[in-house]
Amino acid sequence: MKPFDGVLKRGEPAAGGDVNHFWAMTAMAAMLIFGGSIAAGQAAGSAPKKDSAPAGNAEKGKRLYENYGCYQCHGHAAQGGSAGPRLGPGPIPFVALVAYVRHPSGQMPPYTSKVVSDPELADIYAFLKSVPPPPPVKSLPLLNQ
Ligand code: HEC
Repeated sequence: MKPFDGVLKRGEPAAGGDVNHFWAMTAMAAMLIFGGSIAAGQAAGSAPKKDSAPAGNAEKGKRLYENYGCYQCHGHAAQGGSAGPRLGPGPIPFVALVAYVRHPSGQMPPYTSKVVSDPELADIYAFLKSVPPPPPVKSLPLLNQ
């Protein structure tokens, strides 16, 4: 009966239990606080690095893309055509796009900031980013005959 007594005695002191509970709660609180701040830090730190483009409105961008006639050469879905290359999905970096639109080196007509403002280009950029990728070739019956 001795080992059994020992078990009872070890479980007895209420203070011990409270202390353990206190540390468990502290550890959990620390995990919540530090875990949360790490997640927040990652979100804040990686967002600007991933894409330095200013926030744009894709809906507005699509309208501007149509109104300024980008579609005439680049296609309604920015897929590219005989007159201009594909612009999306996965457009070139925003700064490169702005630089090209302002000073094209080839056939494309230039658009000054008086014609298409930087915020408007940001909207167009948001639209280009929102273009869905084309379906995989395997999903197109005509191409699998
Ligand atoms: C008259 C036809 C035409 C129109 C309109 C046009 N583009 Fe272009 N764009 C081109 C062609 C052609 C190129 C390929 C390079 C060249 O010849 O200038 C090009 C290239 C580009 C590039 C560079 C692509 C790359 O991968 O380097 C961007 C960005 C671009 N166009 C954006 C626009 C936007 C935004 C508009 C509307 C505001 C627009 N374009 C309107 C014909 C056009």
